Amino acid sequence: MSVLLATGANRGLGLEFVRQYSADGWEVLATSRQPEQSNELKQHAAQHPTVVVHRLDVTDEESVQDLADKLDGKPIDVLLHSSGIYPREGQHIGEIDYDGWREALETNLFGVMRVTEALLENVMAGQRKQIAAISTSLSSLRGVQGGSVAQAGTSYQYRSSKTALNMALSILAKELEPRGSVSCCLTRAG
Ligand SMILES: NC(=O)c1ccc[n+]([C@@H]2O[C@H](COP(=O)([O-])OP(=O)(O)OC[C@H]3O[C@@H](n4cnc5c(N)ncnc54)[C@H](OP(=O)(O)O)[C@@H]3O)[C@@H](O)[C@H]2O)c1
Repeated sequence: MSVLLATGANRGLGLEFVRQYSADGWEVLATSRQPEQSNELKQHAAQHPTVVVHRLDVTDEESVQDLADKLDGKPIDVLLHSSGIYPREGQHIGEIDYDGWREALETNLFGVMRVTEALLENVMAGQRKQIAAISTSLSSLRGVQGGSVAQAGTSYQYRSSKTALNMALSILAKELEPRGSVSCCLTRAG
């Protein structure tokens, strides 16, 4: 049975991935930073024995290491990074919220890399060896030139964190190339 590990699996796109992969017969390691409050996910897991909920805060090194220890080398076919934040405050020059920006980078960029590093050998042990993260058209430099700031707002924190994610995943794909058929992809939800 193929194995998916999804971050940010308690709501939004992550929860939908859990539903769809488990419906397709996959074993799903569904992570949430607060499993005890993840009612929809817990309810789904209760009805689907192949879905197991794990605690994971991608910004917390200890939490990431705990999960890696718990999985103990278990093969993962697809590592799907669905966790992400979109800070709304301090989005204009003169009032930039640097704490929010740091948090966006911690979650959307470092979180993806930290979890990938910790679980890389699990992915290498899987059949498919796929690592996917969800980016956005708002991360595109060409989009900015084409008028996306006027349409979608400045969103410095979110947009730059996703632009950096695009670069990091692209570099990762190149760095992992010599290790065989591992594929890293960015998908765009909007
Ligand atoms: N929805 C869209 O239209 C869209 C478009 C483009 C890209 N994306 C990207 O797609 C991904 C999922 O989007 P979404 O709409 O499903 O977002 P969402 O509904 O806001 O869900 C975000 C998920 O990330 C989790 N999360 C946040 N910080 C975390 C942390 N430190 N550690 C672990 N999990 C954390 C949240 O957990 P909590 O419940 O604990 O907060 C939640 O499960 C995000 O990366 C987003 O940027 C979405």
